[in-house]
Amino acid sequence: MHHSYNKPARVLHWLTAAIWLAVWSAGMLAVYARDWINPEHGLTITHKALAITLVVLVPLRIVWRLLHGSPGLPDSISPAMQQAAKLGHLAIYVVALVALPLSGWLWSSVADKPVMFLWLFQMPPLVAPAPDLYDAAKWLHVGLAWFCGAMIAGHILMALKHKWLDHDGVFESMWPRRG
Ligand code: HEM
Ligand code: HEM
Repeated sequence: MHHSYNKPARVLHWLTAAIWLAVWSAGMLAVYARDWINPEHGLTITHKALAITLVVLVPLRIVWRLLHGSPGLPDSISPAMQQAAKLGHLAIYVVALVALPLSGWLWSSVADKPVMFLWLFQMPPLVAPAPDLYDAAKWLHVGLAWFCGAMIAGHILMALKHKWLDHDGVFESMWPRRG
């Protein structure tokens, strides 16, 4: 059995994961169940207010990770696979946790729409309003959202494979068993 991520790293992983999955689902429902669940844009506002917390939590998580490293993977996993996992995690950080929230903030900014941080205060715009960039910003956010949906689905499937098929302690490094 190999080591686990330390407590703050695990708390940050599961907190950002829960927010990310909630926000992704809310975004999809806001758009594709609009008439039924989002007629007054309430879910869109919730989507943005919750998602924008990631611009604070993710830098915290990245700094913690750079200071504390990771427990590494067990020797039963080949060096090539370990390298692939590393690249996959790097892609999640860069694309799903940094670029995707920024693209949403960018879209709202060019559209001149307010973004609330939770329901506490309004975020400053990332850039000045730019109606001619509206379509590009929208497609960037929507494209990244779908790409990241697939990437995170793959991440979750791999994690569950470690837990239920490989029994190699990788899942438990992020979710230790008690005792
Ligand atoms: C990790 C963070 C985020 C994720 C996973 C995410 C995901 C999504 C998804 C899946 C959609 C639906 C895409 C579609 O049309 O097919 C969406 C729409 C949208 N997102 Fe995000 N998003 C994130 C962050 C943000 C942020 C920070 C903002 C703005 C501050 C934002 C603003 C929007 C808006 C305005 C929509 C359209 C909603 C509507 O038309 O009612 N998103 N997002
Ligand atoms: C049910 C959902 C999830 C499960 C079961 C899960 C499980 C795991 C496990 C077991 C690890 C450790 C893997 C290793 O050390 O090689 C891990 C790492 C990681 N997870 Fe998740 N995860 C989930 C959701 C998410 C989400 C939604 C995100 C981001 C959007 C995410 C981002 C990451 C990142 C970036 C790492 C690498 C951590 C590091 O070494 O710094 N995870 N996850």
